[in-house]
Amino acid sequence: MTLLELTDVTASYGPVRVLDGVSLSVPEGGAVGILGANGAGKTTTLRAISGTVRAGGRISFDGRDIRGLRADRVAALGIAHVPEGRGTLAQLSVLDNLRVGAYLRKDRKAISNDIDYCLALFPQLRDRITSSGAALSGGEQQMLAVARAFMAKPRLLLLDEASLGLAPAVAKTVYDAIGRLRRESGITMLVVEQNANLAFTLVDTATVLETGHNVLTGSAAELKGLDEIRRAYLGG
Ligand SMILES: Nc1ncnc2c1ncn2[C@@H]1O[C@H](COP(=O)(O)OP(=O)(O)O)[C@@H](O)[C@H]1O
Ligand SMILES: [Mg+2]
Repeated sequence: MTLLELTDVTASYGPVRVLDGVSLSVPEGGAVGILGANGAGKTTTLRAISGTVRAGGRISFDGRDIRGLRADRVAALGIAHVPEGRGTLAQLSVLDNLRVGAYLRKDRKAISNDIDYCLALFPQLRDRITSSGAALSGGEQQMLAVARAFMAKPRLLLLDEASLGLAPAVAKTVYDAIGRLRRESGITMLVVEQNANLAFTLVDTATVLETGHNVLTGSAAELKGLDEIRRAYLGG
């Protein structure tokens, strides 16, 4: 079943159109990548889905048209957005960030189990449980951002450049944990990455954006084999 479907999505900042017909389809339980250079429109595509920029075209989630819904309504339907730049709450402790992630939930026992699960998935966070978000390293902040989004028990996780600014080994640790989260929880994922090598460790299929529209879509295995992908995104 298709969980999320974008058809000819457009978006603008003021007079400047930056999405010019983005289409993609994310099956329930799948993980789909959005690749592309800086400025291609990857972040704006996620914002269009989560209701933080106005969009045209059609955005359907679980068979329902969600385009134009307010961001809080979209979140309540089960879409969690880990924005570029992480978006952890700097003043709050790690534990309180995780609790805030679960603010729409009432199931206290399950919330407590899910906090334990996050701390097992990201053991570094367990050691920093009382530290404020601001005191964490970049890698720890990224782990916390992912864990906080998971605490909402979303059906769809939108991840924006989880590797940005991280040392390669740290980025790999973050992606390994996201891969484990995917296998163990079955959460559907839409993953924006400039680092295609990392994205291909996680996603089944991907689409490449250039100046606001799709130029290529295929399975991770197909895309990895293409010369133009290797040259532009895989360093050779
Ligand atoms: N808040 C904004 N206001 C005006 N222009 C923006 C804003 N955010 C992004 N843009 C522009 O929109 C285009 C797409 O940006 P973005 O979606 O962030 O691309 P990507 O995530 O692929 O790097 C770029 O040309 C960028 O400069
Ligand atoms: Mg971006």
